[in-house]
Amino acid sequence: MKIKYLSLILFGVSILTGVAQAASSGRQEMNRFIDSLMAGMTLEEKVGQTNLLTWDGSLQTGATKSKGVSEKIARGVVGGLFNVGSLEERIDIQRYALCSSRLGIPLLFGQDVIHGHRTIFPIPLGLACSWDMELVERTARAAADEASSEGIDWVFSPMVDIVRDPRWGRVAESSGEDPYLGSCIAAAMVKGYQRGDLTRPDAVMACVKHFGLYGAGEGGRDYDAVDMSLNRMYQVYLPPYRAAVDAGVGSVMTSFNDINGVPATANKWLLTDLLRTQWGFDGLVVSDYTSVGELSNHGLGNLRQVAARALAAGLDMDMVSEGVYKHLKECVESGAITMQDIDRACRRVLEAKYRLGLFADPFVRLRERAADRKQAACLALEAARKSAVLLKNDGVLPLKKNAKVALVGPFADSKYDLFGTWVLAGNSNEVITVKDGIARYTRDLYYTPGAIVTDNPDLARVIRYDIQGYGDPEQLLSEALAAARDADVVVAVMGETSGMSGESASMTDIGLQKTQRRLLEALVEVGKEVVLVLVNGRPMTLEWEDQNCNAILEAWAPGVQGGNAIADILFGAYNPSGKLAISFPVNVGQIPIYYSTKPTGRPYVPYGKYTAGYIDCLNEPLYPFGYGLNYSPVEYSDIRVDRYAGAGCLSVRATLTNKGNLQTTETVQLYIGDPVASISRPKKELKSFKKIGLEPGESKDIEFSVTENDLKFYNERLEYGWEPGDFVFEIGPDSKNTISVRFKIEKFGDAN
Ligand code: BGC
Repeated sequence: MKIKYLSLILFGVSILTGVAQAASSGRQEMNRFIDSLMAGMTLEEKVGQTNLLTWDGSLQTGATKSKGVSEKIARGVVGGLFNVGSLEERIDIQRYALCSSRLGIPLLFGQDVIHGHRTIFPIPLGLACSWDMELVERTARAAADEASSEGIDWVFSPMVDIVRDPRWGRVAESSGEDPYLGSCIAAAMVKGYQRGDLTRPDAVMACVKHFGLYGAGEGGRDYDAVDMSLNRMYQVYLPPYRAAVDAGVGSVMTSFNDINGVPATANKWLLTDLLRTQWGFDGLVVSDYTSVGELSNHGLGNLRQVAARALAAGLDMDMVSEGVYKHLKECVESGAITMQDIDRACRRVLEAKYRLGLFADPFVRLRERAADRKQAACLALEAARKSAVLLKNDGVLPLKKNAKVALVGPFADSKYDLFGTWVLAGNSNEVITVKDGIARYTRDLYYTPGAIVTDNPDLARVIRYDIQGYGDPEQLLSEALAAARDADVVVAVMGETSGMSGESASMTDIGLQKTQRRLLEALVEVGKEVVLVLVNGRPMTLEWEDQNCNAILEAWAPGVQGGNAIADILFGAYNPSGKLAISFPVNVGQIPIYYSTKPTGRPYVPYGKYTAGYIDCLNEPLYPFGYGLNYSPVEYSDIRVDRYAGAGCLSVRATLTNKGNLQTTETVQLYIGDPVASISRPKKELKSFKKIGLEPGESKDIEFSVTENDLKFYNERLEYGWEPGDFVFEIGPDSKNTISVRFKIEKFGDAN
């Protein structure tokens, strides 16, 4: 469907593009501009702005694909396109839209830029493990720079759904289980993408998704139902979306799931009462891929009915379903949609375009501009190093330079799988593999894959993995064992392919696939030290691996510089600093699993009868939230609470000592518990964290300021406040191994 016929000469004949928006100062000016534009629009053109369509070759994440798009553009009934191939195509299409449609309203170009555009950074769950907000913001800024240089105005990120069920494949796109950490990341990403000024050619509009509670689907199944108390929503699941709104996010994407029976895309309480009225959001609300049409599958009626309901609930833009557009006449005539609803939705789309500077210059992001790819590559290395989490180390790491290494496993020389999910523009040829990375540290390296990823034929079919394509499994195994026998140390790179996490990739078995586990067991039998490096998109069940491997490094899908980062950590050039943004269960039976559990009336006693625990397994995760080792152990001591005058805050301090002989960076975490309150409160909640650098042997005090806000929660009536009494302050390297102090607070303000 390539459009060829328009020449540059025609560009700009639109009746609108001459209208000066350059200064775009203030809301009033925008309103005046949009009022006058809308005064000249037909009903069909107004509804057309709500139409967000795909283009030939676009990634299709649902059954439907847009048809007749160029003809619709000419009729002025397309508001935007997403996941369109290249800059050149976007230029052609924008010219066509401006010249062929009656009003020449510029199109909006969206794209799934999730963890980098051309330069691929670690998956979001990995980046979250850096606990480095400045880094997260810089990756979003770099992605904005690259994406906008290719004509993308709008990115469908950040995804901020809280996830406490690692069976859900989209955990890879999330920031993990915690509302506080998730909120910090949401705000950092919005700032990075939007750069404080959407009219900048190198800024893009962010889209926080998936509103809401998409990560809480039953059974970890994608798109599944969510049934949740309002208290849990407000306390745990809603804060990251709210943080994105408070950070000024330009758009919000609705989710596929229902919430207590009402699908998000048609949920007036969610989209209007909460988002607009309570939170004051004034940007654009877009559906997810065909989530308007899918309201019929939820049982809400035919396309005409559901489209009307979604629009009336507060939706502005319909991704791919074309429900409103197709049924507009009937809907207006029957009163299912009011003109106010249509005007509101159309206005919001136009406002987004205005804010992005598209009326002033429809080509603002469509001019040849080179993004700084060199700097982005350095950033990708920094991000991959900081995202990796050392889960176990009995002293085998760091490896000695020039050690004789047997490098095995299906991901040891893999390129594409280091990208992970959602990569549209990255070039996997640029990926530094683990083998490339390790070769920088030792010449004595023998590589052999040793096993295939999986021999499960059903799984292989879905993830498009060629079971037959890797030769005889016995031969692979014996080569790996021979290499292990001959080496000083075995480095096994195992985990998941890109397709095993992400959208529509829920799994019930989240351990290593049998083929890989068999190889690992055989390698351990050889008797050499075994270092397991994981390349994957979700927390896995690793009890056997924890007991039998000498070290485990969780590298996640680390992006384009992954191999370098992994090798730097394995050989000690970088002291690992990542901390888990999500708990790792011992087994699937423990799911849902998270650290901020509530107390019960029968407090948990390991294997205790008539207490809130399992009788065949502990309640504790294998690796807790916040956990991550480094090469230089840090000791925590002397926690204390001080009041200081007039500041309206308390100070909670502890002393940290670097007991090792390497410089280290520690992410120190503050948790607060509220043991007596009007409702049962979680035993602890993350309230702050700080990074601190320590030289070998050095001691430093760390101080957290605690204000009233840190003690607030939603009570029975969903009022947000704090209740005087005892609080427990915990400081530590993770959510479990903390030191704590109990302290009574009656009042902030006067005594302080
Ligand atoms: C996903 C969204 C994505 C959209 C557009 C959907 O299937 O849920 O996260 O932004 O497709 O590609």
